[in-house]
Amino acid sequence: MKLQFNNNAIVLSDEFTLGVATAAQQIEGGRSLDGRIDSIWDAYAARKDTIENGDTPTNACEHYRLLDQDIAMIIDLGVDAYRFSIAWPRVMDEQGEVNPLGLAFYERIVDALLANGITPYITLYHWDLPECIQKSGGWENRDTTDLFAQYVDVISQHFKGRVQHFSTLNEPWCSAFLGNLYGIHAPGNTDRKTAYIVGHHLLLAHGKACRVIRKNISNAQIGIVLNGGPTQGFTDSIEDNLKAELAYHEMVSFFAEPIYKAQYPSLLRKLFPDFFDMVLAEDLDIISAELDYLGVNYYTRNFVTDAQDDIGYQTKVSPGAVVTAMGWEVYPQGLTEFCMQLNESYQPKAIYILENGAAFDDQVVAGEVNDDARCEYIYQHLLEVEKMFNFGVPIKGYFVWSLMDNFEWAFGYNKRFGIVHVDYQTQQRTLKRSAHAIKALLKQKKRINSAK
Ligand code: FCB
Repeated sequence: MKLQFNNNAIVLSDEFTLGVATAAQQIEGGRSLDGRIDSIWDAYAARKDTIENGDTPTNACEHYRLLDQDIAMIIDLGVDAYRFSIAWPRVMDEQGEVNPLGLAFYERIVDALLANGITPYITLYHWDLPECIQKSGGWENRDTTDLFAQYVDVISQHFKGRVQHFSTLNEPWCSAFLGNLYGIHAPGNTDRKTAYIVGHHLLLAHGKACRVIRKNISNAQIGIVLNGGPTQGFTDSIEDNLKAELAYHEMVSFFAEPIYKAQYPSLLRKLFPDFFDMVLAEDLDIISAELDYLGVNYYTRNFVTDAQDDIGYQTKVSPGAVVTAMGWEVYPQGLTEFCMQLNESYQPKAIYILENGAAFDDQVVAGEVNDDARCEYIYQHLLEVEKMFNFGVPIKGYFVWSLMDNFEWAFGYNKRFGIVHVDYQTQQRTLKRSAHAIKALLKQKKRINSAK
């Protein structure tokens, strides 16, 4: 398998998967429709001063209502695959019983994709824990790992024979650390030990989910999605480098080591010896279940320096760097650096870039959105994918974040990551120039590969 270049355009081989990604909480809306119960993000957004502008995910892109039209748009793009998440609060009710109406919604998605030759990539948990489970401790409570396994059992039995690709968790670092140490994601705690407990229970839930999926679907492709990037000290000082090491360990190694090496990083165990009491003897064996792929979400690299707060470190951007609307540095080679580091440390069987993209302040002008900066961002990162091939990284696919502008968590609707623009007043979708570029790339991919 090889990526080739043709007059500076990217030609992707047939076996390489090019797709777009979304997450339920960020696009669906329909908060209480057809028996959906609240998630921790519905509850968190209802609190004062949690989300920019006081935005809430209550309506989002109204994807729940506009499904047919959105699916038609996905089909029209010609993607090989569509990564979306299933909302646990939509398919399971407060008693833990299946909500058939919620399940039917995802069935419509899966069936429409399959009928059009698009491979569904399901994310089982993209941060939307049912609020009723949070009320009994959420991820701090070990029992939640069994509830997750039950939910995954329902989904994997239901979609057996139709769906092969399952990512258990999306970016557990965000759920654990942003949600429980930084306090800027649901549920909004600010305590390091809580973050470790939650992180461990998320991993345990992942491991239990892997067993369930394997049992239900013999040809399943199972993975987890981790986020991160190359991480170094903001200056050359020893302090900054030590903080960078801690930051990388909490962001990446905390999750990757138990999964691939059945152990927690010794640095963290040394620094926080009493933070691991919740790890029971059999847990690491469950967590280190065999995976078919590692999902990587990459946006930027991190420069780390000291901070006099409960976190103890902060990330900075180097002066003069080109940044996106998130203030994140555009650093495409970081994708290769990060994947190579993961590949060397853990030898995953396959790597999929399950998210990569950028927010910019896009404007619709005369019915068009000229997001050249996003086109360039995606193009530069796809060049890195080609580079990685040559370095022997088993990279199998790339998914743009995101199909359409959406509810960007604590930033609300302010940050636009879509290749499709969404007008939140009218719910009008407008393909940006980047969407047209990807559509053309996909067309060319099909044409060249069918001519072979
Ligand atoms: C990732 C999340 C995704 C989106 C992008 C911008 O951390 O997985 O939902 O918010 O960042």
